[in-house]
Amino acid sequence: MAAQSILEDLDPKQREERGEKLKTQGIVIRTYDLWKTYIMGDQEINAVSGVEIQIKRGEYVAIMGPSGSGKSTLMNLIGCLDTPSRGLYYLNGKLASDMDDDELARIRNKEIGFVFQTFNLLARSSALHNVELPLIYAGISSEERIERAKAALREVDLEQRMHHKPNELSGGQRQRVAIARALVNRPSILLADEPTGALDTNTGNEIMALFERLHQAGNTIILVTHELDIANHAHRVIHIRDGKIERDDATPRGQL
Ligand SMILES: Nc1ncnc2c1ncn2[C@@H]1O[C@H](COP(=O)(O)OP(=O)(O)OP(=O)(O)O)[C@@H](O)[C@H]1O
Ligand SMILES: [Mg+2]
Repeated sequence: MAAQSILEDLDPKQREERGEKLKTQGIVIRTYDLWKTYIMGDQEINAVSGVEIQIKRGEYVAIMGPSGSGKSTLMNLIGCLDTPSRGLYYLNGKLASDMDDDELARIRNKEIGFVFQTFNLLARSSALHNVELPLIYAGISSEERIERAKAALREVDLEQRMHHKPNELSGGQRQRVAIARALVNRPSILLADEPTGALDTNTGNEIMALFERLHQAGNTIILVTHELDIANHAHRVIHIRDGKIERDDATPRGQL
């Protein structure tokens, strides 16, 4: 607690210096005493309570924990989709709280790919159009958009279904559309919340192979999963319970 109040007391220049230092150290994600508190009537729910995480560029990290332990809430904070109730979050050496809407929009569109637990696809749009969306926001020409969206769908083996709408796809296929959409802008950070949850073992393995290629290419991957097999693809597992980090270990792969 003491350390946190000191941090929050840092003046803007000191905060900036800290960010610079993180950047030189290759630390792409760093949270200091991060909290997310929901008020429900007279009840306070600390979905994330005092989390300190440090992730270097190129790391491959899994997050595990029981249902309701705060994994999705934490991912939303890391992805700048939500703002913390308290604490500091440096992304790429910059304080998220100092970024304006334009900058946040750019980061969410270009630097971070997000695979949501609930997919968040547009119900009335085809798979192709869903995957094209981030490219529209990025201002890319229609021809190139279609080319790249098709290529992303090909990567998840769904080119044959590109004209289907979400309700004309299976759960696993919808999940793969969501993954293609997250990857289409070639983000350097991929945040994936249960990306294999709706997939059979074979398809899940293909997605993990795709993530492995992204990891080999130097991207940072953070993946929420409740399956140890999946978590063991990563180099490190962070265990969360009741909004707190319970353990942060190297996987067998990470110990090599
Ligand atoms: N918008 C909200 N308002 C109030 N409480 C919320 C809200 N979102 C989440 N919570 C609560 O915060 C806690 C953490 O939720 P979160 O979705 O982060 O859990 P999770 O670890 O992702 O669980 P799961 O494995 O089931 O997806 C839960 O107790 C949940 O009920
Ligand atoms: Mg969740």
